[in-house]
Amino acid sequence: MNSIPQHLTAFEPALTSECAISLVMLPRITDERGCLSFAESGRHVPFDIRRVYYIYGLSEGAARGGHAHRECERVLIPIAGEFVVWMDDGRQRRRVVLDDPAVGLYVPAMVWLDLTDFQPGSVCLALASALYSEADYIRDYPTFKRASRAASELYEIELADAFL
Ligand code: TYD
Repeated sequence: MNSIPQHLTAFEPALTSECAISLVMLPRITDERGCLSFAESGRHVPFDIRRVYYIYGLSEGAARGGHAHRECERVLIPIAGEFVVWMDDGRQRRRVVLDDPAVGLYVPAMVWLDLTDFQPGSVCLALASALYSEADYIRDYPTFKRASRAASELYEIELADAFL
């Protein structure tokens, strides 16, 4: 099992300063029968869960993702197997291995995700803050970069205004 990368912290409402991405430490209840983990909105997941989807039956070498969401937030949980998540917030690209069903990954809006290196039999469970909407997707990387730059410029203007 991989150790938690240092740049990612257990989920707290405050996100990491380097990159607004954090791990979600889920409860793990273990007895002689096995393990049980769970996730609750407001406790482990920082949004109301409006949709659940899961990725499974992956072909060898398959990659998923390849897009960002304008508003939808997600928590990804590797409920079986192991895979790599590449996260890009428009400034930095980070890599994390998800391999523990009791450790999820919170992904805010406006983060470009690529999921790769799925071990056979892997299943990625996603908890999402919004119903499916194709309009919420950005599937073109240059468009994502432009939108991300515009969002951070707006944030910097708002921050500057707040200190006037
Ligand atoms: P997509 O989000 O592109 O998959 P991934 O992130 O794994 O690469 O979705 C693949 C297809 O499934 C696409 O046609 C949209 C559809 N889809 C839904 O209809 N509802 C959903 O909740 C999701 C996540 C996808």
